[in-house]
Amino acid sequence: MVRFLVLALLSLAGVTQTSASPTQASEPLNPTEEQPPLGTGSLSFPWSHLRLPGYIVPLHYHLLLHPNLTMLSYSGTVRIELQVQNNTNWVVLHSKGLRITTATMLDQNLAHLSDKVLPVLHNPTHEQTAIFSPRVLSGGQKYFLFLEFGAELGEGFYGFYRSTYRTSSGETRNLASTHFEPTSARMAFPCFDEPSFKANYSISIRRSRAHTALSNMPIVMVLDDGLMEDRFAVSVRMSSYLVAFIVCDFKSVSATTASGVKVSVYAAPEKWQHTHYALKAAVKLLEFYEKYFNIKYPLPKQDLVAIPDFQAGAMENWGLITFRETSLLFDPATSSGSDRVWVTMVIAHELAHQWFGNLVTMQWWNDIWLNEGFARYMEYISVNATYPKLRVEDYLVDTCFAAIGRDSLNSSHPISSAAESPTQIEEMFDTVSYDKGACVLHMLRHYLTDQVFQSGIVRYLRRYSYSNAHNQDLWDSLANTCSKEEEFSSGEHCYSSRQHLDLTSMMNTWTLQTGVPLVTVTRQGSHLLLKQERFLRTAHPSDPTWFLWHIPLTYRTDTSTSIHRHLMTTLTDSMEVGEEVGWVKVNVDMAGYYLVHYDGSGWDDLIQLLKDNHTALTFMDRTHLIHNAFQLTTAGRLSLDKALDLIGYLRSESHTVPLLEGLGYLEAFYRIVERRDIPDVTQNLRTYILWYFRDVIDRQTWSDKGSVSERRLRSELLSLACHLGDLPCLKQAQRSFTHWLDSNSTLNLPADVAETVYSVGAQEDTGWASLLQTYTHSLSETHKRKILSALASSRDTNKLTRCLGLEGEVIRTQDLDSLIAMVARNPRGRHLAWSYVQKYWSTLVDKFQLGSFSIRNIIIGTTAQFSSTEELTEVRVFFESIHEQASQLRVTEVAMDNIQKNILWLQRNLGTLRKRERDREGDRERDRQRRG
Ligand code: BES
Ligand code: ZN
Repeated sequence: MVRFLVLALLSLAGVTQTSASPTQASEPLNPTEEQPPLGTGSLSFPWSHLRLPGYIVPLHYHLLLHPNLTMLSYSGTVRIELQVQNNTNWVVLHSKGLRITTATMLDQNLAHLSDKVLPVLHNPTHEQTAIFSPRVLSGGQKYFLFLEFGAELGEGFYGFYRSTYRTSSGETRNLASTHFEPTSARMAFPCFDEPSFKANYSISIRRSRAHTALSNMPIVMVLDDGLMEDRFAVSVRMSSYLVAFIVCDFKSVSATTASGVKVSVYAAPEKWQHTHYALKAAVKLLEFYEKYFNIKYPLPKQDLVAIPDFQAGAMENWGLITFRETSLLFDPATSSGSDRVWVTMVIAHELAHQWFGNLVTMQWWNDIWLNEGFARYMEYISVNATYPKLRVEDYLVDTCFAAIGRDSLNSSHPISSAAESPTQIEEMFDTVSYDKGACVLHMLRHYLTDQVFQSGIVRYLRRYSYSNAHNQDLWDSLANTCSKEEEFSSGEHCYSSRQHLDLTSMMNTWTLQTGVPLVTVTRQGSHLLLKQERFLRTAHPSDPTWFLWHIPLTYRTDTSTSIHRHLMTTLTDSMEVGEEVGWVKVNVDMAGYYLVHYDGSGWDDLIQLLKDNHTALTFMDRTHLIHNAFQLTTAGRLSLDKALDLIGYLRSESHTVPLLEGLGYLEAFYRIVERRDIPDVTQNLRTYILWYFRDVIDRQTWSDKGSVSERRLRSELLSLACHLGDLPCLKQAQRSFTHWLDSNSTLNLPADVAETVYSVGAQEDTGWASLLQTYTHSLSETHKRKILSALASSRDTNKLTRCLGLEGEVIRTQDLDSLIAMVARNPRGRHLAWSYVQKYWSTLVDKFQLGSFSIRNIIIGTTAQFSSTEELTEVRVFFESIHEQASQLRVTEVAMDNIQKNILWLQRNLGTLRKRERDREGDRERDRQRRG
């Protein structure tokens, strides 16, 4: 039974604490004309649902906060203007961990409804608070609820929490910052903490003279009364999770966009030099979005702040975006090509949210993909337009591959899925919402054309500005059955109502249904026979007919350069391709979210084509074929031999993307057999990879030169070569590491290869110690990340244990999840990492919260390395031991599916790998003889 406590039942005479009766009220809030006896503790919590009642709506919050950065606590008051729709005696809202010391209710004229302070009840399980008004609040009227409250500045990463940083002179300084999404605004102040309760916010912050206060809006007035009080302009209408405030002593750089928005980037004073790239990128991207959406950014300013302790990558608070330092700060001297891409993409993502998410918000968290899927997709569109040299569109496939990886496991879920509790809501921020969301949008854009897609989303943004939307609203906006007026005046593309219906039913098959389809194509004369089913890597679907998608198929053939289209809406279908066609490649440039299997001689034809003339296909199509073939192999649908034959052409591949795709699979196989300690296959595979990719490895320079894709290739290739023990690679890395040591760790190594150099250096005791020393004192988080990865690559398990023990002191808690994952990836560290997780599970959950990115990272990072039934059992037993938590999480099922997939992979493919390696030994021998 749920027990409700009246934590504070106050009268004007003094404070008394009483317990309410421990019965759960099942029905809501019937207004009582009679006043119940106060102070008897007879009140029970009036609301039993997780979501708040809909008949009291907040209109305007006046929030005053006074943090004390020395005492690490704060006090505050909030006056909420409420619109009451039905008569009631109760106001129910959210609060978590707050001491509410006073509650009063005022009418529209600010007259008190009662001369007593009102009883405040709490239901901690639902993170709700109820305030009882002895006088009925009448439907149709407005009231003001006034609350005084206080709390600690938390140690974690949620609510209003504290962060610290160290200056180069060794001084430690505090700051206070917020992170609310999805359900932590209630930890900072009492509020109606659901996305559809949009309201205006007037925020004031008291601070010392030495500090700066920031919030969503610019300051309009500063009161100086010994203590300073900053008053911020009243915000636009927005959801509680987007509210933010910071008190710190950071420095900033600013610039103004063409349309007059002031953009500033803030960081700890000594990191100020590294803010310039972000400022330029933010201005450019904001200008891009204003044009693309044809809707002005509605606030006068946009701040981007690097917070030293931050759990996520970044957070899109309206007008005050917060970042991890590694997601915002850019030091040309220590940042690699991928670091630059990362910072640009994160800024692009959070700025996209200012429209998708902030201006138009999903009605409820089940549709978080309307925020995150769009923001992820807009990263590619906007960065492609503003920084074409970064070639980020080449990497959209990685996003889709990640989505398929998750969606082809039994434990996946539909893009739109029910989520009620805070843990379930947090877990919705996953690769399905982000990556599958983005890929499905990409498919839709191709289907509708860029222009129709763009005007459709602009229509959606305009229609639902400052309000909330469902999936259906998006489909309606995209397939606009324009009203006559609109049609006439805008001259935009309009669909017939039949097409409108089709778009909804088409998109429902992608957003309301789990999984990714596999289309099997068979040539039969001039026809291509088609069959669709759900693609699963672990088991075959028990009821294959249940799944049906509306698939916008595309294909290319050798007989023409044009792209052919066909909408497949049935389980089986056929298309006329022509008798004379030699090869067919389905899913052109992988614009569609589906896999393709070629029956009969289909794969052989494509293997031959790649061998003879791989440039007949685009590099995207080549990448796609490689991905497809290996996915089918994992599912047991295609032999590993065929997939390996398909990448047999890679020596002639000059494009980074397919090259890395093929190499990635070989590396993954290597890592699986290396971890399982299967020495013959490990050794053979190592020799094979190094032999096969010899030329391209030798072509790499140990520098930062070249285009971003060349730089990425270099990073990945040299890191793998050294990991495989390639002698020339190791020698060069050791030489560079010695230079670095000789310079007293002051030399800036080429950023693209720094991590590899450090990892080689970390294998020696002195190298490891010097790296730890540098880690401890470095001020650049990007640089520290590379060093951490090297420290965690040590073959000495004592050092790995030492690393894990450094969390909290030398290593920030925010980096613990990556550290655990890094140790787990190290063949010597995986059992150590897994034991650590089991031993410290409850501490980890306390630090990060159950459904968070970090906890999921930790679970996936440690278990993805396992590939035996014993390990599967061990993991299952552990999850059973934490049943109460594990049962709330989807990620535990994902972990088990992953291990099962690895077990199956080994069972199916180890024999082939062994046999192939024996055959290849002959190839290599011939090659050696030929080369002389
Ligand atoms: N809205 C999210 C932040 C967030 C994540 C809030 C999870 C609550 C739970 C933000 O826009 C985001 O997606 N951040 C990403 C980085 C981004 C580049 C994808 C993150 O934190 O990893
Ligand atoms: Zn996001």
